[in-house]
Amino acid sequence: MPSYAFFQKKIIPLEEAKIGIMTHALHYGTAIFEGVRGNWNEAQKQTYLFRLKDHYLRMERGCKVLGFKLPYSVDELCRITVELVAKCDFKADTYIRPLAYKSSEALGVRLHNLEDDFLIFAMPWGPYLDVDKARCCVVSWRRPEDNVNPPQVKSTGIYINNALAKTEAVTNGFDEAIMLSSSGHVSEGSGENIFLVIDGKLVTPAIYNNILIGITRATAIELAKNELGVETIERSIVRSELYTADECFLTGTAAHLTPVGEIDHRKVGSGEVGPITAKLRDLYVKAIKGDLPKYLKWCTPIYPKK
Ligand SMILES: Cc1ncc(COP(=O)(O)O)c(C=O)c1O
Repeated sequence: MPSYAFFQKKIIPLEEAKIGIMTHALHYGTAIFEGVRGNWNEAQKQTYLFRLKDHYLRMERGCKVLGFKLPYSVDELCRITVELVAKCDFKADTYIRPLAYKSSEALGVRLHNLEDDFLIFAMPWGPYLDVDKARCCVVSWRRPEDNVNPPQVKSTGIYINNALAKTEAVTNGFDEAIMLSSSGHVSEGSGENIFLVIDGKLVTPAIYNNILIGITRATAIELAKNELGVETIERSIVRSELYTADECFLTGTAAHLTPVGEIDHRKVGSGEVGPITAKLRDLYVKAIKGDLPKYLKWCTPIYPKK
């Protein structure tokens, strides 16, 4: 299936979108990315981009922290993305990768005196954690502090930390890593936020636990409150609470809402998908496909509505 990229201000065939080997971002991790989902709704013959604007608002905040100049406004970025995904016309679940990057072909570690550019590509992509219940482990790699490498910013440079964590977990036979912060509190997965269910409430690490504030996390909190009457507490979580919680799940654009069945060889609750997790997952799956009218505010269709 042919694919396209938005590259150097134009939509062109993906295979023609190439960067030079001296590009700054390739050498020093000076890029900021997003991951957006396009969810195919077979009955409606429509692809919905989920919380598109929120992804670009997060990218804009990241650019502010690192001193990048985004060459487009958030509204323009949304429009370009819709145009690109419509052109790709995959008619399948899609993953969209916007990237703001330091495009100068120049050496020298810095963020200043460099040119900025922006690209997007899209590809068909199904579930990322393709399991009914994930088996997780706490890994030895810690999540960096904000004043080391801000976890709020989806910079490509910080993702070496996530890659080390993921590879340690997978080579040890698990599906996903759980990272602690440098203070030893639970932080997040390698590409997901984490939630526990304790005494009928959701408990999730807070911004000071070195997490990325996930858009799926915000979605789960809102759906839990509005649709299930379940409140969320954002606080520091100690490691042993992972072993005693009633339920646990991960949230992320790529991983969606994935239940966790086991952590460090201990069953979470009964080891089966818990009732709050199951209900939230059902709501989430409907919301992202545009099947919950109340939450169509989160869904941007790529084809004109009939
Ligand atoms: C480290 C990390 N935490 C959390 C998330 C979840 O964020 P979101 O739900 O916005 O995709 C991601 C994925 O983007 C991530 O890479």
